[in-house]
Amino acid sequence: MIRKYPYLCSPIQIGNVTLRNRMASAPTGGTDMTPEGGIGRRSTAFFELKAKGGASVVTVSEVVVHPETDASPNFHLDAVTPGLLGGFAYTADAVRRHGAIASLELSHGGRYGALRSNTPKYGPSPEKLPGEPEVYELSTGQISDIVAAYGQVAGLAKRAGYEMLMLHGGHGWLINQFLTERHNKRADAYGGSLEKRCRFALEVIESVRAAVGPGFPIEFRISAKESIDGGYGLDTAVEISKIIEPYIDMLHVSAGSHHIGFTITHPSAFTGHGPNVYLAEEIKKHVKIPVATVGALGDPAKMEEIVASGRADVIYMARSLIADPYFPRKIAENRDEDIVTCLRCFSCNFERGKTSTRRCALNPMIGREIEGFEVQPAAKPRKVMVAGGGPGGMEAALTAAQRGHETILCEKKDRLGGIMNCEEGVPFKEAMFKYPKTMERLLRAEGVDIRLNTTVTADYAEKENADVLICAIGSDEIVPPLPGIDGANVVRVQDKYARRAEIGQSVAILGGGIAGCEAALCLADEGKTVSIVEMRDDLAVDANELYRDALLSRLDGRVEIKSGCTATRVGPDGLYYTAPGSGEELLKADTVILAAGQRARSFDASALLDAAPRVFLIGDCVTAKDITTAVYQGYHAALDV
Ligand SMILES: Cc1cc2nc3c(=O)[nH]c(=O)nc-3n(C[C@H](O)[C@H](O)[C@H](O)COP(=O)(O)OP(=O)(O)OC[C@H]3O[C@@H](n4cnc5c(N)ncnc54)[C@H](O)[C@@H]3O)c2cc1C
Ligand SMILES: Cc1cc2nc3c(=O)[nH]c(=O)nc-3n(C[C@H](O)[C@H](O)[C@H](O)COP(=O)(O)O)c2cc1C
Ligand code: SF4
Repeated sequence: MIRKYPYLCSPIQIGNVTLRNRMASAPTGGTDMTPEGGIGRRSTAFFELKAKGGASVVTVSEVVVHPETDASPNFHLDAVTPGLLGGFAYTADAVRRHGAIASLELSHGGRYGALRSNTPKYGPSPEKLPGEPEVYELSTGQISDIVAAYGQVAGLAKRAGYEMLMLHGGHGWLINQFLTERHNKRADAYGGSLEKRCRFALEVIESVRAAVGPGFPIEFRISAKESIDGGYGLDTAVEISKIIEPYIDMLHVSAGSHHIGFTITHPSAFTGHGPNVYLAEEIKKHVKIPVATVGALGDPAKMEEIVASGRADVIYMARSLIADPYFPRKIAENRDEDIVTCLRCFSCNFERGKTSTRRCALNPMIGREIEGFEVQPAAKPRKVMVAGGGPGGMEAALTAAQRGHETILCEKKDRLGGIMNCEEGVPFKEAMFKYPKTMERLLRAEGVDIRLNTTVTADYAEKENADVLICAIGSDEIVPPLPGIDGANVVRVQDKYARRAEIGQSVAILGGGIAGCEAALCLADEGKTVSIVEMRDDLAVDANELYRDALLSRLDGRVEIKSGCTATRVGPDGLYYTAPGSGEELLKADTVILAAGQRARSFDASALLDAAPRVFLIGDCVTAKDITTAVYQGYHAALDV
């Protein structure tokens, strides 16, 4: 067979193991732990799914090596706590039985270990920053203990069946703290010159090597630029790489530091594809060992080019393999067009922080791998009609068809996608706009009868005589009853692409929720003068805080913001509003964008409640919310048929 992506599918030797392809699963862990800090069964199943999906390496993460000085809420591994070693062994086995290499990530949080707990924080040097806990300097005795602990855990990992180890030397954790002058102010053998700042990393590697023996692959994750005040850049990262190269088997090039939050370590939707590739490429020029890269990688053609051109040897993916764990297998089978592309919406990271569980906006199985929710053939195939072709309806129809039900998907408009279609032309929502196209391919492949330009009414559904109706008819925009709101100068946020020719140079946006802020950014990027009027005191308050931070930092200083203000009317000259305690004022604008939120189509949905023997209501037509909810409810309605 001729593979479409021969470089991505080619094996590579790392130490004494062979990776079956160049697509590896980056660490995505610290979730679903047993009370002792062991790997929970859902986590094992989560990592197993990546192996089943074809990844060459599955990195199980992340293990706190020295709990005495690091209270990070991550996995623990020791030989004495009952259940710990066995749990790790079962997980390694679950990965290996699908032909993937099981790798374990070892880490120490240092000054950022368990920031929210009141345990003492240790780092290379003492520090007290406003609003942060005090950091105590590690003594040389404590350093020796931590170095020894790395070796002990590495030995246990090998005993448990791991065939590779990743040492986390980036993202602002302890090894990185020693590497950077920003945090390492020591005057002893561990600080000062770059060689001395590398000493801790080298001792850790040496300790691990002594435990696992020659040839056992040790991978070192490095931030190739920290992007923090006083931090190091690529030149220093190259020097660090050269110093540690002789002792490791692969460099894993990431970027950023938790010192400044998440958006460089976890590139947001506002970043282009593979922002760290140029860093890997530069480091690769200076070392002989294989170099991996990570960060916002998910476009198969671009990934192939990265490996083919030798800019990096291995591509690691975290979120792309959460959204679609079968990504590598689809690449191998030349089915790249069936890959569900990650939205980089941060729902997964947010859920981890909020509830310590896993969830993905597009993949309802994530975090629920052992609940018995896999798609199974239905005992009795039925006729299922789905009303509404948004994300909820598409997911419901796909799942119903995969279970063997005769499935009809009706969409009122001339294309599938629902609200997602309003992201046309928005660069940072490209994946969201692409999603319905992927789903349409999958729906057609499952034989779903897709009926566009078809509005489901009670009569229509009854005539079709379906056993089940899944109603996914979405929401309507909220139109505040303001004078002038029907004017020709008012454009619904959902129509900003379709009516782009009518949008003038100056724009006032009525509503500073997620949709309003995204529209503001998009229009500001096009060079327009943009202002927002928002009733609440803050913008995008319904967004998860990681996405919100990324979005608002892009808006910062580029858009005039009137929060805590109420729009009063639209005039030919712009949007009028009142601020607390003052009279009506005008935001001059050629165009007003209406982004006042969505309201469930409950009335239309209730008219369909008796249109079939069994009726499910899902997604925005129940409560206008988000894609995660619509997809999850769509999937489960179809499982319940
Ligand atoms: C501008 C904007 C940006 C957004 N961005 C995000 C985001 O980044 N992340 C996120 O999680 N959420 C986002 N949301 C919310 C998200 O889009 C919705 O929660 C999600 O689309 C709901 O999916 P759904 O399938 O329930 O409804 P919809 O996407 O609204 O789809 C409903 C579909 O049903 C069709 N329909 C209606 N009546 C009938 C009928 N009687 N018969 C047949 N078809 C019918 C409609 O034409 C539509 O295609 C955004 C919302 C807006 C307005
Ligand atoms: C849910 C989630 C959990 C993560 N957990 C870890 C972790 O435990 N250790 C780690 O080094 N990186 C972790 N990361 C970071 C990823 O390994 C990766 O560096 C980052 O997400 C960028 O890659 P991506 O764009 O392919 O997602 C996590 C990422 C996500 C999305
Ligand atoms: S939750 Fe969002 S960012 Fe995370 S994997 Fe799923 S689609 Fe990607």
